[in-house]
Amino acid sequence: MAHSIIFDTDPGVDDAQAIAIALRHPDIDLVGMTTTFGNVDVETATHNALLLGEVAGKPVPVAQGAAAPMVKPRHPAPAHIHGDNGLGNIDLPDVQGKADARSAAQFIVDTVNARPGEITLVAVGPLGNLAAALQIDPGITARVKGVVVMGGSIREGGNVTPVAEANIFNDAHAASRVLSADWPLTLVGLDVTHRCVLTPAHMARIEAGQGELGRLLAGSYAFYREFYRQALGIDGCCPHDSLALAWLVRPELFTTQRGHLSVVTDGLAEGQTLFAPAGRAFIQKRWSTSPEMDVCLGVDGDAVSDWIADTLA
Ligand code: RIB
Ligand code: CA
Repeated sequence: MAHSIIFDTDPGVDDAQAIAIALRHPDIDLVGMTTTFGNVDVETATHNALLLGEVAGKPVPVAQGAAAPMVKPRHPAPAHIHGDNGLGNIDLPDVQGKADARSAAQFIVDTVNARPGEITLVAVGPLGNLAAALQIDPGITARVKGVVVMGGSIREGGNVTPVAEANIFNDAHAASRVLSADWPLTLVGLDVTHRCVLTPAHMARIEAGQGELGRLLAGSYAFYREFYRQALGIDGCCPHDSLALAWLVRPELFTTQRGHLSVVTDGLAEGQTLFAPAGRAFIQKRWSTSPEMDVCLGVDGDAVSDWIADTLA
């Protein structure tokens, strides 16, 4: 049975790859996209989300959301990783469609309430839209089918600070609300996304298989690849956001552990995700007060990379 999802995103090169998967995979029904600042400003994120649906020949509703974090000032967008336009500074065609008139948060609330028990929220950017949806209607926690978040890091260390992953760091207050809400959530963080490398050979198959969309994905990948070569010394890219969809469709490729999550919102460790394994007693209970979640801690990275290429080839 297909997974009906709302994809909450800040496209972004790896977001674009994941959007292509959401549009193409037969087991995924992409009900809509909601956009947030993060890799780019929110207007650019909305433009790119609309564009990717149109280039794929499958336009879906797009609702624009958070332009900034809930509490703190926004950090500059990482143009050195994703390009100024979020897609590696390649030339892009014009967009024909317009965003939904509703806010991202209202779109989430309306869609989840119209189809109780059916919608999975897959969030791969800073978490302001999900936090705002919880604020509008806390009852959605009982009506979502599931929530999958690409974000955080338990044992791997951070990618924007020594301890923080970008999506959590960019709005730690929103992340704190989302990761401690009482809903069925799985965290797909750097512990697994850093085990997965999409190689130039994978990308060549995707480019050959996707026509105009393939040209766009491959062009933006070339820019992103240069960042990974310099930063991590690898020839290829970590397709972070696609792993949230891989978890949804191919959970047998992952190992998970249940436990409680907390997010540090201030100080040197701002944006760090803390994990208290279920059932383990610590010196105090304060790390174990939120509901239990599933956290991905292991993955067959080669199998996920092949799954991505097979899906898009
Ligand atoms: O840390 C990886 C995440 O941050 C991904 O969602 C990627 O798009 C980046 O913004
Ligand atoms: Ca992203």
